[in-house]
Amino acid sequence: EQIEKGGYEHFMLKEIFEQPKSILDTMRGRLLADEGIIKMAGIWDHLERLTNAERIIIIACGTSWHAGLIGEYLIEEFARVPVEVEYASEFRYRNPIISSKDVVIAISQSGETADTMAAIKLAKEKGAFVFGICNVVDSSISRYTDAGAYTHAGPEIGVASTKAFTAQLTILSLIAIKLGNHNGNLGKADFMRLITELEAIPKKVEDVLKTVDEAVKTIAKKFADATNFLYLGRGYNFPAALEGALKLKEISYIHAEGYPAAEMKHGPIALIDENMPIVIIAPKVGHYDKIVSNVQEIKARKGQVIAIINKGDTQVAAMADYIIEIPETSECFSPILASVPLQLLSYYIAVERGANVDQPRNLAKSVTVE
Ligand code: G6P
Repeated sequence: EQIEKGGYEHFMLKEIFEQPKSILDTMRGRLLADEGIIKMAGIWDHLERLTNAERIIIIACGTSWHAGLIGEYLIEEFARVPVEVEYASEFRYRNPIISSKDVVIAISQSGETADTMAAIKLAKEKGAFVFGICNVVDSSISRYTDAGAYTHAGPEIGVASTKAFTAQLTILSLIAIKLGNHNGNLGKADFMRLITELEAIPKKVEDVLKTVDEAVKTIAKKFADATNFLYLGRGYNFPAALEGALKLKEISYIHAEGYPAAEMKHGPIALIDENMPIVIIAPKVGHYDKIVSNVQEIKARKGQVIAIINKGDTQVAAMADYIIEIPETSECFSPILASVPLQLLSYYIAVERGANVDQPRNLAKSVTVE
């Protein structure tokens, strides 16, 4: 096992550090930025099905569901196709409206999650076309779906999903950009700009891994005994906040909630005092000025602000108690970069607390029963 961990103390840490490679592996042969081409046989053979879809329904559980939420933002922004994201467990039991005009995208790292499998069966019975995005090759879901694409993240052993999540975001980005290009909603210049930026992501993830470690460890030591955490983000980084909170819950057993930053005033703000750590994802993209106001509101209530910002940002940095710097990228890819320090934060807090990082209590890597 020590050899399999490749010198890392835990599989989770190894898998976090593998992300520059796993994202690159997921893009390999698919993203040819210089030539302006995205190729993904499993999906492009059925491109018309996707292009003609009146609606795309994304079905998943857990971390894969968070990737699905970001998929909704990506597909709606670039391809302008309406998207709904559903928990597989809800979808399968609520008699959903679904027809042959719908395309379902099922996302699953393991390809074995029972609820996701049951939801796919239901969608197929109703005539929908089902694509799978799975990591485990030849898994049940990858065999049962009509078509699909593998995330080539490699085996993920740690129960808390890390590199599979960023690989899922990579695939969803490729699908959304390609679909937008194909259906005429994304012009050539934007298409080229986006794929060039996506190609640069593995290198930027590497930069994050090289530079944030000390800052994250300091924050982990400071807040290892916290009993609650709030994670906030806007736009594409709202699902990233949900995922950050899930990581912390899963492996450190600290209660954490993810929220859209603007929704803070509809409840969570009541929880804020000097004992509440608040992780706020605040790269200079989207509605940055609104995030600045959210930070002001938190500081006015003496909350402890841990901000993920772009290198060189001074506005949020001046107010935050702790900062973690990530490189700049487009808003649509910023969750990939922001997720890496959030994974590390949950990891180092769990280690500080002496928790079993790779096999947290009560959780399973793949949930094959209801
Ligand atoms: C379990 C795992 C999570 C995972 C979820 C969905 O809860 O512990 O890490 O996100 O199942 O799994 P899937 O394999 O379908 O992505």
